Amino acid sequence: MNKHSFSNKTIRLASIDSTNNYALKLIQKEHIDNGTVIISDYQTEGRGQRLNKWMSEGGLNLTFSIVLFPHWLRPDLQFLLSQLVCLGLADYLSMHIPDVKVKWPNDIYIKDKKVCGILIESAIRGMRLENSIVGIGLNVNQMEFDENAGRGTSMALMTGHRYVLEEVLSAIVKNIEKYYVLASQGNGDKIQKKYFDQLLFAGEMRGYKDENGFFNGKIEKVLPDGRLLVVKEDGTEYLYVFKEIEFIF
Ligand code: BTN
Repeated sequence: MNKHSFSNKTIRLASIDSTNNYALKLIQKEHIDNGTVIISDYQTEGRGQRLNKWMSEGGLNLTFSIVLFPHWLRPDLQFLLSQLVCLGLADYLSMHIPDVKVKWPNDIYIKDKKVCGILIESAIRGMRLENSIVGIGLNVNQMEFDENAGRGTSMALMTGHRYVLEEVLSAIVKNIEKYYVLASQGNGDKIQKKYFDQLLFAGEMRGYKDENGFFNGKIEKVLPDGRLLVVKEDGTEYLYVFKEIEFIF
């Protein structure tokens, strides 16, 4: 037991607008232990990154939030939270499924399809993170995906197995806790390295698109603040923040 370990508390809901919204209201209202999980079978207003909706068929997938109080983490280094959450998820999925990768900045892919999205919302106080709500949408047993909704897949679709949601949830939360405790003990550099090792297309010459159009380039590095360093074919280096670069599959 470490002071940054997770509580084993889980709040289960049948239906809610968004587990991230619920978590925020709870933090504002009462004391919550670090690592409390809020999970709902169904979300009516599931939120994705950048005002997108997160669509998930009720009862088939995992949609949950973990409430954290990372007072040990400086706001300018908060990308470490994304990295450790990605690793916790990718480690677990890799034990069951081949070709699991992290797509920068914080999606989990199997081959060229997205199996999991992460939405982390944090409050900052001075030089510290006050609280972080880590929202995770993992497609587990859903078998059909809207072609127009992007490149979605699920664990079941990739393997032909059906999974017990409770088992998947508890294994993933344990994995994320392991990396959270490691990070809180000052192992950020190890986590950054491991994240890079699992990064989709890292070190390969690949097609991308930015505001200047299509180009070939190589992901060289992810900076501690989360920016992506890409070297273009002509040798010029570019740093991107989220949504400034598109991956071409
Ligand atoms: C993404 O756009 O990839 C992020 C998706 C995050 C979805 C999860 S589901 C649980 C939590 N509650 C929400 O409303 N969103 C996150």
